[in-house]
Parts: sequence; C-alpha cells; structure tokens
Amino acid sequence: MNQSQHGQWSSRSAFILATTGAAVGLGNIWKFPYMVGSYGGSAFMVVYLICIVLIGLPIMIAEILIGRQARQNSVSALNMLACQTSSKQTSAWRYLGWWGSATLILVLSFYNVIAGWSLGYAYYAISGHMKALDAEGFKQLWQHFSGSPVLLIFWHSLFMLFNFWIVKRGVKRGLEQATHYMMPALLVILVALVVYASQIGDFQSAWNFLFNFHPKALNASVTISAMGHAFFTLAIGAGCLLTYGCYLGSTISIIEAVVTVAALDVLVALLSGMAIFPIIFHYHLPISSGPGLMFLVLPVALTQMPAGQWVAGLFFILMALAALTSTISLAEPPVVLLMEHYKLSRTKAITSVALTSWIIGLGSALSFNRWHNYKLMHWTFFDASTDLATNIMLPIGGLGFCLFAGWIMPKKQSMDALQPCPTWLYRTWLSLIRYVAPVGILIILIASPF
Ligand code: PHE
Repeated sequence: MNQSQHGQWSSRSAFILATTGAAVGLGNIWKFPYMVGSYGGSAFMVVYLICIVLIGLPIMIAEILIGRQARQNSVSALNMLACQTSSKQTSAWRYLGWWGSATLILVLSFYNVIAGWSLGYAYYAISGHMKALDAEGFKQLWQHFSGSPVLLIFWHSLFMLFNFWIVKRGVKRGLEQATHYMMPALLVILVALVVYASQIGDFQSAWNFLFNFHPKALNASVTISAMGHAFFTLAIGAGCLLTYGCYLGSTISIIEAVVTVAALDVLVALLSGMAIFPIIFHYHLPISSGPGLMFLVLPVALTQMPAGQWVAGLFFILMALAALTSTISLAEPPVVLLMEHYKLSRTKAITSVALTSWIIGLGSALSFNRWHNYKLMHWTFFDASTDLATNIMLPIGGLGFCLFAGWIMPKKQSMDALQPCPTWLYRTWLSLIRYVAPVGILIILIASPF
C-alpha cells in the first residue's frame, strides 16, 4: 500500500513540522525544567542526552519505518508485518499497539490538565490579574489557582474541547495547519526569553547547574526519570510516530527527518531551561517546586518586561498551542485505531478518546486540591499517572518496538523501508535497535526504584 486511507503529508517539511509538533510540547517547556530542577540538574541532563541518542533516535526511526511500511493503525500494522514473517493469521504483537494506545490515553489525561493551566495563566496575564504581583504574589496566585477544583476542571475541559475540534478536522486540515505557525512563533519567543533572562537573571549559576556534571548526583531514580523523559519528550514508545509514519511519502529520508526533529526537541528544552533557571537563581526561588515550577517562576520575570502582561499572555498561549500539537499526536493513534478496528466514524472515535481521557484527567486535576492527601505510597493520582505512563509504560512500549523492528522484521524489509539510507548507517541503527537500546531500557527498568 502506498498511501494511508487517512491521507498523506503534503511534503517532507510538513512531516517534520508535525512530528516536531508532537515532540515539542509541555514536555520541553513545563516538564523538562521541573524534572531537571528536582533531579539534580546536570546528572539528569547527561542521562537524558545519552538516552536521546542511543535509545530515542533508534526507536523514533523504528516506529516511523514500521508505520510507513504498513500504513495502518499500530495494531493492524504490527499484526500484518508479524504475520508476513510467519504462517499465522494473527500475532500477539498486535497487543503492543493496544498497549501504546492505552498509554497515550493516560498521557492525554494529565496532559490536558496541565495544558489547561497554561490557558488559565494566559487569561490571568491578559486580563491584568498579574499586574504588580511580586514573587510572593505569584505564589499566592498559584495556590489559589491550583487549589480550586472548579478552575482546574474548567480550563482542563476547555483545552480538551480545542483538541477535540482539531483532531476531528483530520490530518491535513487539522494537523498540518495547526503546526505550521505555532512552532516558529514558539521558538522566537523562547529565544527572546533566554536573552531577557540572561540580562536580568543569574546566567552563570544556571549554566553550571545544567552543564557542570557531578557524578555523585547520579542514582537509580535520576536515571529512570531521565530515560522516561527522553521517551516522553520524543513522543516514542506508544505508536504516535508509527501513526505519523503512515502518512509519510516513500521517497523521504526517515533518518534525516528524525535527526532534525530530535535536535529541535532538545533545543527547545534547553532554551526553556535557560529561560527559567537564571530567574530561579536570581530570585532564589525554590528549584524543586515540582509541576508548579513554570507557573511560579516565569511570570515573575515575564511581567517585569516592557509590556510584560502581553508578553506573559503570549507566552502562555504559545505554550498551550505547543501542547495542542502534542495532544493532537496523542489522540490521533487511538482515534485511528478505533476507526479502523471498530469501524467508528472519526467523530465517534475522537469523542470516545476525549471523554475517556477527560474522565481520567479529573483525578489529576483533583490531585492538586481535594485529593491532595489521597496517596498510593507517596503518589497522588497525578504523580501515579505521570510516573506510570512516562517511566514505565512508554519504556516498555519502546522495548517492544526495539524487539519488533530489530528481531521480528526481516533485515531486508527494514533496510528497504529505511531507504534512502547508506549501508553503514543502516548497520549502526540495526545494532542500536537490536542490542544497545533494548539492553539499556531493561537495565534501567530493572534497576528502577519502583
Ligand atoms: N512529546 C510531547 C511533549 O514533550 C508529549 C508526548 C508524549 C506526545 C507521548 C506524544 C506521545 O510534550
């Protein structure tokens, strides 16, 4: 099959932009800084970067290659390719597709909540609520906002409706158009913020925190969190990129596209870190404040800029838009799966996915207020959803994709699917996907403190 029934990307750059849209999101702007802040700075950075190169890149390639080869939803794609290698009619590999979709719905559930926070903060900025607030004032604003179930659920629901609307429009009209303008705009504002932070903040301390490696800070929970974050940020391990690969023309080089996307993804995370940490160090704000970090710290600096209220508003809107391009990619694979597997219309499929994730998301929204004290071990509902999805479910899915692309797909098939690609590069990818990535994931999972 040369084309997916759901359409095809109009060009190489449309694919790169949409995949970057999937990769770049809250993971880079919201999660990366607070993870780095909570897990020892440079120790986290080192493991994260190593995981991106040795585990992340090969799995990105594997997922896209499987998608482009099969041009179907992840369940049928894995089933079809596995059955081609044996005489059986169905294969257990299809469960990897279901696993991925379940993971995505879980990610979507808390992701919508956080994206709702940025909508809420955009509103606060533009409507003047942030005027004349100092660091203490922002702390109170955050406590008021996160402490209110009604506010969190309102913004959570509103964001989910945006997502619903875009995914309903389908691949070309919805996905491509959405990403076309958001990404460049986000990059511009982030660069401006870094320049600004370097002027008013403590750039040197931020730099040391991120890049001066102290091996002593390294431990099992830093390692598993950094690996989980590499999966999360690259959007791998759950079949998102497999689904995007279905819409990819057969003459486009996967490797080139993947390297571009991963580089942009890391760049945005670093920019976000370099925008936030100088301010944290300058104002002596608590570095390990967890998920609220962004919302506590950035407005302090943003609102002091000239026309700060508008800059802050724009920043939070762009953050919500970056989240939107990721939630589109989170919703699309389960939607396509429901459409193809149960013959549902796009509207019915997206309604089911949106509703399920919205209901689970209520638990996350309530974790910051009513359910704050309901804990499973030390986890709130939100912590459990994020850690389970990011540190366990995505890496297990990723391990599945490594085994599938490296050991189940015949070499000839994966080599053909990866064209255009020089032989040495194919061999390098094959060794990474067969040995380095799966062994790395297994060791980190086994050593993890969970
Ligand atoms: N990569 C996205 C981000 O960093 C989140 C995501 C995870 C998207 C998994 C798709 C799949 O924000």
